[in-house]
Amino acid sequence: MAASESLTRARAAASAEAKSGLRWALGHGIPRIAVRAAARRGDLQGRLIAASATHDDATMLRVIDEIREQGPVYRSGLAWITASHAGVHEALSSNDFRVGVRTDGGPGALGRTLDWAESDVTHPLLPPSLLATEPPDHTRYRRLVTRVFTVRAVEGLRPRVEQLAGELLDRMQTDSPVDLVAAYCAQLPVTVIAEILGVPEAERERVLELGAGAAPSLDMGLSWRGFRAVDESLAAFDAWLEEHLAWTRDHPGDNLLSQLVRASDEEGTLNHEELKSTAGLVLAAGFETTVNLLGNGIALLVRHPEQLAALRDGEAQWANAVDEVLRYDPPVLLTGRMSMRDTEIGGVAVPGNALVTTVLMGANRDPAVFADPHLFDVQRANAKEHLAFSAGRHYCLGAALARMEGEVGLRAFFDRFGRVELLPGAQRRHTRILRGFEHLPARVG
Ligand code: HEM
Repeated sequence: MAASESLTRARAAASAEAKSGLRWALGHGIPRIAVRAAARRGDLQGRLIAASATHDDATMLRVIDEIREQGPVYRSGLAWITASHAGVHEALSSNDFRVGVRTDGGPGALGRTLDWAESDVTHPLLPPSLLATEPPDHTRYRRLVTRVFTVRAVEGLRPRVEQLAGELLDRMQTDSPVDLVAAYCAQLPVTVIAEILGVPEAERERVLELGAGAAPSLDMGLSWRGFRAVDESLAAFDAWLEEHLAWTRDHPGDNLLSQLVRASDEEGTLNHEELKSTAGLVLAAGFETTVNLLGNGIALLVRHPEQLAALRDGEAQWANAVDEVLRYDPPVLLTGRMSMRDTEIGGVAVPGNALVTTVLMGANRDPAVFADPHLFDVQRANAKEHLAFSAGRHYCLGAALARMEGEVGLRAFFDRFGRVELLPGAQRRHTRILRGFEHLPARVG
């Protein structure tokens, strides 16, 4: 009996390993080879992906400009790609496009193999994630969470966010070097979203750790080791969510998770997978991006002292500065859509079933919309026209919250410290799609 049990377990482990290997090969291994070959051929999308991996922004921006110069949309050897403001906006808002790639494996043996290999762990880019579904399901999920994130609801949270920022700044060391990401930029967003959702304080470090491990799940072309690490983090996050949702059921409160649990248990509006996916995405999206806005914002303002002075003198507005930070150094590099039928972008024909990469950073640096686009200018009149929060149905649910946290967080930081010196050792995050600092050492006083 014991022997047959251990045989069954060994078989299950071998099968999980094989599935994981197949998912990596198809989702990352083969695309990785294709991207490298494309970059070597000079393919613009291949070069963009290669530059994003090395965090070489200057090269990346040159390639983005070249892509935009090809027209509203460009057919690379890998996919279609648009880096103009009008093209990105059109692809993201048009009903001819949808999020996600096909999730049933498709017909034939390959389809059956893909279905077999599918993971049952919650993934931000797989259904039933908001980021991977379309109406009517998307509308149903989004309706359950929007109320808490309206501009009005978010304004109600402002005093609490100011208080939390003040408490974090009180605790920050002023006599020795401090990592601004660990001490401030990461802490503020996770605390705010955890309070909205009702995640107790004791869980926050764990949530941050799981979020950091899962963040590369948005990237394509991961190494086998990187993929395994992300897979493990996603599984750990999934297990944590299961436990935490059970805890919430026993400890209901006046918070968003309790409302979602009620919608699932009592009203039957969400099944268990949908509940887990929606709760997990709102939680992770709530801090994995805003940390970048705060870190990128602090670094930009320290490196542009005349801009900081304009904000301190009241000549420039903090809210506008936040939009300029989002425009200039967007926390999300790009996203993508699939065409559902033969269509066009900016008058250029795009066939059905085509993957279109929409470069948000390209839209934000488009000279057709932003004069002198590579200039960081906190008084830019139309900074708010950036597409850092995407557009259309999937426009960021947390945009108002992120803007308010950015405004409160940056202003409180620079009001508190008259002197901020960035020290050597600043390090960008390894992720390609999510853009920000892993470490930002500084001396403040
Ligand atoms: C500076 C901070 C943020 C940035 C730059 C950002 C960016 C984005 C982008 C680009 C998308 C859409 C992706 C696509 O169209 O494929 C998105 C969607 C989303 N964001 Fe944010 N986000 C930020 C903060 C937040 C916060 C604080 C929350 C917390 C509620 C949040 C929750 C979400 C959710 C749930 C979605 C999915 C919406 C949908 O598909 O309908 N985000 N975000």
